[in-house]
Amino acid sequence: MSNKINRLRGMYDVLPSETWIWQRIEEVIQEVFDSYNFQEIRFPLLEETRLFYTAIGEATDVVEREMFSFNSRSGTSLTLRPEGTAGCVRAVIQNGLCNRGLAQKLWYQGPMFRYERPQKGRNRQFTQVGAEIFNIDNAQADAELILMSARLWKKIGLPNIRLEINSLGTTSARIVYRKVLIDYFKKHLTVLDEDAKRRLETNPLRILDSKNPGMQEVIKNAPLLTDFLDDESIRHFSQLKEILDECGINYSVNPKLVRGLDYYSKTVFEWITTDLGAQGTICGGGRYDSLVELQGGKPTPAVGFAMGIDRIVELIKDLKLWSQPNSVDAVLIADKTVNPRFINGLSEKIRNCLPKLNLVVNLNPSSFKAQFKKADKLSAKFAIIVGENEINANIITLKSLTDKEFGQKELHFDGFLKIMSQYK
Ligand code: HAM
Repeated sequence: MSNKINRLRGMYDVLPSETWIWQRIEEVIQEVFDSYNFQEIRFPLLEETRLFYTAIGEATDVVEREMFSFNSRSGTSLTLRPEGTAGCVRAVIQNGLCNRGLAQKLWYQGPMFRYERPQKGRNRQFTQVGAEIFNIDNAQADAELILMSARLWKKIGLPNIRLEINSLGTTSARIVYRKVLIDYFKKHLTVLDEDAKRRLETNPLRILDSKNPGMQEVIKNAPLLTDFLDDESIRHFSQLKEILDECGINYSVNPKLVRGLDYYSKTVFEWITTDLGAQGTICGGGRYDSLVELQGGKPTPAVGFAMGIDRIVELIKDLKLWSQPNSVDAVLIADKTVNPRFINGLSEKIRNCLPKLNLVVNLNPSSFKAQFKKADKLSAKFAIIVGENEINANIITLKSLTDKEFGQKELHFDGFLKIMSQYK
């Protein structure tokens, strides 16, 4: 039997050939979020299971069958976070970040865990970046989140994405609608699949999300939540649409968009791409005005979104949106006879003077020819050549690997620094 241990299903290693994409996305996100004055918050990957029961809702797919849960040594049920909002709200309450009605604009990033059936764009460990605004109840906050994400797509260069929005109304409006929906689906019980029948009592709104072809006709004719919205929700939703229109953001209103988590009220939205197949939602969010109170805090309106970074990376790769930057500035090529002590001494001296230079030192010296070949493969801009001649004359030979005109120059260390500092 082999001793080899493989990674778990639905979990992925990000290899060096791809990490640069992740790093660049993170940079772009940080830049955009900074420009809207969001501040980063970090909270644990592991929380008490009851946090997610309370926040996400017991009758949701996530809580019912997708959580990685286990008991601690003391017997408390713990869960690897399946999303960030519940933990973020817990941290906000516990640290008093929203006390005295203080507004907060927070963002977070990191791995989330859901026990789903893996497929393209759907992993069991995946990375989300989320943003949440607390203590602002107006549509401007909802709009700012949508505008910020639109700016991000533009910066990343994502084509073919569309925005769907909807309003779920206030909790009281939804209770009325829920009853109407149950009555309607009860009249069509024979068409409902087992999942829908189960949801009829626990979470009837989620039946609207079903992809079962046999149920589409019934779903299409179901009463619309939009017809049951209260005045305040209608006003809020109109204001959001006005701002999006003013800022030139295209959207479509999808009255069947309900989202898979229970905490939403009023605005919900999703950004969807046609380039990823079935798992095309790259970002989803909405308002959750009752959640802070539900989790034990003071009544605090809130709105947020989270995007799936794995899906965005897939898109960047599939559509070849970015090309890998050439990061190696110089390769130190030393003759085999040169004492390793001298090579490390010289490279450290260079690093002390040019801390930003990306310098590759060949730790396993081979022939000059092989070393030049490697430098070419790395697309290095310069070769720093050191052989017996250079050591005897106390010089360095600097050769450009990209600029024929520059050619090759023999330089004292100061002269070498002067030239290289123009590049770094
Ligand atoms: P969500 O729609 O469950 O919302 O997830 C947000 C995004 O995470 C999805 O649109 C998708 O891009 C990504 N995602 C979800 N599951 C997976 C998976 N298994 N594999 C890869 N990517 C995935 C939330 O989580 C809410 N907390 C968003 C929010 C924040 N609402 C208000 N504030």
